Amino acid sequence: MDIFIPYLFFFLLLPFSIYLILFFHKEASDDTKNLPPGTKGWPVLGENIDLGLLGLSKFIRDRMEKYSPDVFQTSLLGDKVVVFCGAQGNKMIFNNDGKLVIPWLPFSLRKIVLPDFDVNSPYEDAIGLFRNFQYDILKPEALRQYIPVMDALARTHLRDCWKPHPSVKAQPLINNYTFELACRLFLNVTDPERLQKISRPFAPMRNGLMSLPIDLPWTAYGRGIKAGKMVRAELTKIVEARREEGREKRDLLSMILELKDEEGKCVSVNKITNFFVGLMVASYDSTASAMTSVVFFLAEYPHVYEELLKEQMAIAKSKAPGENLTWEDIEKMKYSWNVVREALRLVPTAPGTFKEAMADISFAGFTIPKGMKTFWTPHSTHNNPEYFPEPEKFDPSRFEGSGPAPYTFVPFGGGARICPGRTYAKLAILVMVHNLVTKFRIEKAIPHEKMVVEVMAAPSHGLLLHLDPH
Ligand code: HEM
Ligand SMILES: *[C@@H]1O[C@H](CO)[C@@H](O)[C@H](O)[C@H]1NC(C)=O
Ligand SMILES: *[C@@H]1O[C@H](CO)[C@@H](O)[C@H](O)[C@H]1NC(C)=O
Ligand SMILES: *[C@@H]1O[C@H](CO)[C@@H](O)[C@H](O)[C@H]1NC(C)=O
Repeated sequence: MDIFIPYLFFFLLLPFSIYLILFFHKEASDDTKNLPPGTKGWPVLGENIDLGLLGLSKFIRDRMEKYSPDVFQTSLLGDKVVVFCGAQGNKMIFNNDGKLVIPWLPFSLRKIVLPDFDVNSPYEDAIGLFRNFQYDILKPEALRQYIPVMDALARTHLRDCWKPHPSVKAQPLINNYTFELACRLFLNVTDPERLQKISRPFAPMRNGLMSLPIDLPWTAYGRGIKAGKMVRAELTKIVEARREEGREKRDLLSMILELKDEEGKCVSVNKITNFFVGLMVASYDSTASAMTSVVFFLAEYPHVYEELLKEQMAIAKSKAPGENLTWEDIEKMKYSWNVVREALRLVPTAPGTFKEAMADISFAGFTIPKGMKTFWTPHSTHNNPEYFPEPEKFDPSRFEGSGPAPYTFVPFGGGARICPGRTYAKLAILVMVHNLVTKFRIEKAIPHEKMVVEVMAAPSHGLLLHLDPH
């Protein structure tokens, strides 16, 4: 399902020079005069080295200062890329999906997540299924029923994997919980053996997405393609078994099995599998990493933890022991949600996406020619003092009242392609946070353990925490 792939593209923003030499030779045509300012950097390597050294956030900020706060040109992955910046740039991209820009995705990535015969399928192929899915199944009303499941699983997870230990490495545990949750909610897979079968090849598959696309048996990319096939095979088995079983309209898979196309035909098993591979990849890393950074900031700033604890304890006290959280409880988590949003502002877990210009675009006095690759990123606004005074400060109160100006806080993108999983992510994170803080005080075992940016920002030692049960 190609639709999910633009979202994954940020993995390829890595400083991989060989990648560029081998795989991207094409240059967009250069006959337009009025291009945005910027440098193409080194031949072939472009500015990937700078990007690798500086990190995306600083890379973007430096160039906005040097060239233009609205739009600049750079060269990444061997292609010239125009980066749209600021609230106006975001607005331009978000409001012109399908009019001036379409998602752009690399062949190498398709090869891992799609079966061979779908690798060249047109982008629009999957949109029907996706639109149905987006509007029917990830809507708040449908998500309501997920909350008790999330809550029950969070409780079991904390009881079994956190509570027995005086200290834990939080990040791998959070990853594990997020994966289990997605499998349970989307596929009704709870059997540990099945979970293992999907999750084992999942890690090499993701590593493949982030590696040099050289398809040999011993490269990460080669292993990624192989693991991708295993993940697909496992998911296909699940889909086929469920199609046999009949459909109770209760989880995501059963709803998709009921969808019909214009001719009244069911969606093919292959399409459904593509869909789930995309969904698992899109939902898993970003949610787990956001959850990790929320816990990271809670451990770093005790006053934030205390304030959040107060809110969560009031909710806990209003419920019978063991009673599940509800949508109404989530709505009371106002301060907590501001904490989550502030964490997403400082550490946006999706660095932005690439699009391709469908027509010549006039923007900020420049012309971006048809066919040009473009990029938008939360890093052009999230750390901008114009929109967020003292941007490096962790301050959840920024989101009080009317909150940030439009198009400045954009961790989930915006417009037609805004992340359809954003409410799911909100629920998953808040439910986990509720259970965590009402059970433990947390303290960093490595004082001020830092966030480091590799593929995604992550705590340098996996977020080692001391746990102190209430
Ligand atoms: C904190 C967690 C998450 C963040 C920060 C995030 C962020 C994003 C961003 C920035 C995009 C790209 C928008 C664009 O191309 O302009 C996106 C797309 C997408 N996300 Fe998420 N996401 C998160 C969680 C999830 C979850 C939990 C799901 C599924 C349940 C999900 C499913 C998707 C899908 C399917 C797309 C592609 C939409 C399309 O191309 O139309 N995401 N997400
Ligand atoms: C909470 O939700 C879980 C999962 O849906 C369910 O098994 C459990 O019985 C619920 N607990 C209560 C007290 O309703
Ligand atoms: C993650 O969960 C699986 C079971 O689903 C378990 O075997 C594995 O040890 C867990 N990993 C961590 C890091 O806890
Ligand atoms: C999930 O699977 C279990 C058996 O493993 C079954 O009892 C239950 O009804 C299924 N739930 C849904 C929503 O299909």
